[in-house]
Amino acid sequence: MPTIVVTGAAGGIGTRLRQLLPSVYPDICWSDRVAPPHLASHERFVKADLSVMSEVEQAIDGAHGIVHLGGHSIEGSWETILNANIIGCYNLFEAARRRGVERVVFASSNHAIGFYPRQRRIGTDDPVRPDSRYGVSKAFGEALGALYAYKHGLRITSIRIGNFGEAPVDERRLSIWLKPEDLVQLIRIGLEHPDIRCEIFYGASDNSRGWWDNAAAFRFGYRPQGRSEEYVAAALAAQAKLPADPVGDWYQGGPFCSDEFDDGIERSPV
Ligand SMILES: NC(=O)c1ccc[n+]([C@@H]2O[C@H](COP(=O)([O-])OP(=O)(O)OC[C@H]3O[C@@H](n4cnc5c(N)ncnc54)[C@H](O)[C@@H]3O)[C@@H](O)[C@H]2O)c1
Repeated sequence: MPTIVVTGAAGGIGTRLRQLLPSVYPDICWSDRVAPPHLASHERFVKADLSVMSEVEQAIDGAHGIVHLGGHSIEGSWETILNANIIGCYNLFEAARRRGVERVVFASSNHAIGFYPRQRRIGTDDPVRPDSRYGVSKAFGEALGALYAYKHGLRITSIRIGNFGEAPVDERRLSIWLKPEDLVQLIRIGLEHPDIRCEIFYGASDNSRGWWDNAAAFRFGYRPQGRSEEYVAAALAAQAKLPADPVGDWYQGGPFCSDEFDDGIERSPV
């Protein structure tokens, strides 16, 4: 069985994956800069700050594959994004190359393409339109993945995660929801499929209101099980209690688009 390292193990997704992944990959090393809550004695953990290359190299030593979740997961100051997501992501890919890791699955984000209007359906060949410094860092990570795939032969999968959770909780998330078990499917494709070279997938379940053409993932056998329409009544009831956000409600990236926004909505690109 391959040895898998998961960064960002103490975060929301990492914590859920600690329940779901060990039955698939018995040999997992969990890593983060802080210890995950309630670490069991059988769980292997290596503390590492992604912005320190020597710590990253040590954490991934011996891995066949890496699931890279670690980093700053919302908008932040440039300094924060630079250290956690730009330098951190470079260190991760470069350490993987140095240590001969074969595969990396990178947790990218819908915020790499957040400035597409909701009325537009996009695929993975459309140019990035980041909606934040955070979104730029995810586009950077996807680009780094391509460099390490095509120049150094690593097998790279970037998953543009929509919103990970047990259920979609508002109208936007009816379009971008990702059921945890569906993320596991995508991770398995990235870590195991023999034809992976450099792929971008949308991390979205079977959402009939979705905005993304996920044909690339389907070609690799992805069959999402989560159906956001099953939660439509509760999600729309929750949405009705939220204040209107003319910019955020127009674009796919939602509040990440309205945050710090000073352009006119009438100039919205289509
Ligand atoms: N949760 C979602 O719906 C969602 C959507 C899109 C993308 N993503 C991406 O998926 C990944 C995981 O998301 P999450 O919701 O679990 O985020 P999270 O914020 O809950 O967890 C991120 C983890 O990264 C760790 N981290 C931050 N900086 C670090 C550093 N310098 N060195 C080492 N570890 C560091 C944190 O300690 C934290 O445990 C993130 O990369 C995020 O951008 C998540």
